[in-house]
Amino acid sequence: MYLNKYEEAMLRGDYGDAIARAMQVIVRVGDVLKADRLIEIETAHIAGVSYLTIGDPGLEYLEDLTRSNAKFHVFTTVNPVGIDIANDWGIEKEFIDKQWKIINALRSMGASLWLTCTPYEYLRIRSRTYHAWAESNAVAYINAVHDAWTEKLPGPFVVLSALVGRVPRYGLYTLKGRVPTHVVKVNGKQPINDPLIAGLLGKKIAEEIGDGRPYLMARFNSNAVIKQLLASYATYSPHAFMVIDELTPNHKEYFTMMDKPEKIDIDISDIVKNAGIKNHDFDAVFLGCPHYGIDEVMSVVNYVRNKGTKKAKKPVYIATTSFVINTLSQGIIKMLEDSNIHLVLTTCPVVSPFLKSVGANTVATESVKQMYYLPKMVGINYISCNGIECLDIAFDE
Ligand code: F3S
Repeated sequence: MYLNKYEEAMLRGDYGDAIARAMQVIVRVGDVLKADRLIEIETAHIAGVSYLTIGDPGLEYLEDLTRSNAKFHVFTTVNPVGIDIANDWGIEKEFIDKQWKIINALRSMGASLWLTCTPYEYLRIRSRTYHAWAESNAVAYINAVHDAWTEKLPGPFVVLSALVGRVPRYGLYTLKGRVPTHVVKVNGKQPINDPLIAGLLGKKIAEEIGDGRPYLMARFNSNAVIKQLLASYATYSPHAFMVIDELTPNHKEYFTMMDKPEKIDIDISDIVKNAGIKNHDFDAVFLGCPHYGIDEVMSVVNYVRNKGTKKAKKPVYIATTSFVINTLSQGIIKMLEDSNIHLVLTTCPVVSPFLKSVGANTVATESVKQMYYLPKMVGINYISCNGIECLDIAFDE
């Protein structure tokens, strides 16, 4: 694999031991993947940083890097961790302390501690720029919505890529590797406007085409719905890449580059008819996978305003970001709290003990990604609900 002079110097150790070790791994992986050279990335997004998932070995690895004075070479953001940094939610102190050590190690390497899986909502991402991102929903989103290029990379590999500011050029980092292989046409007269339906559609597409790359012909009526489509698709797809007709920048170019794509028709009414609430046995509602942005939180605020002084009978937890919280007035946050609706920061139920620590063993959720991970990762059951209907069942149970 070709290396320029600067990359050779990093590999030789001219920039320190940590950089040299990171380069060794990047180059070895590049050779295995038959990459012709390295490419410079603009940003990195690290995932897999909850103490629940990486434990003491992961913490020691990160602390070892900080001792060698390693610093990130590019703008680097971080996924949700195992705790809400503003509220302990009854999580054990030892867990919280260990999680803070992980956060502090990442901070000392220069990471921006946004601790969200939706960094794309707060970055200006230009099309046809390179990135090294690990969180699958975010990978799917910047590829499909911005035509910004990243593979779905493992978390530890992104740490190394962020240190050297480079990834091997292979797969989705090449135009050839991004050409869709299937045209997926969704039949239905109206744009899709239900989060649960969009999530189920994402799952169905991934199941239908395996490691193929879809060119999706469907209409969606909000960013919230597109987030659900892509998060679910990315959960079930090995690469998380799709092109969406009329949405992905350069979609026309991708369309003309396809060579005899396989055609798949999906009837949205088949998905809708299987998507109703099956039972009402749940302890809490969870929303915010992927993290809710300001528009999604404001739709909840408007729902609560319309309810007047009524309070949800079951608690509702909404994962969101510090950016959103800082936009809301204290009055709005209090109104939500008084209605038994709680904003949760910097974390995600599948990498945190927080739902169990607030006594929720079965949650109602609209997120197909949560439905996949909750039982596997933290032993929590779910029932599915759809957007506003999730709030209806919390208030009216
Ligand atoms: Fe984000 Fe967790 Fe969902 S990281 S995408 S809230 S599974």
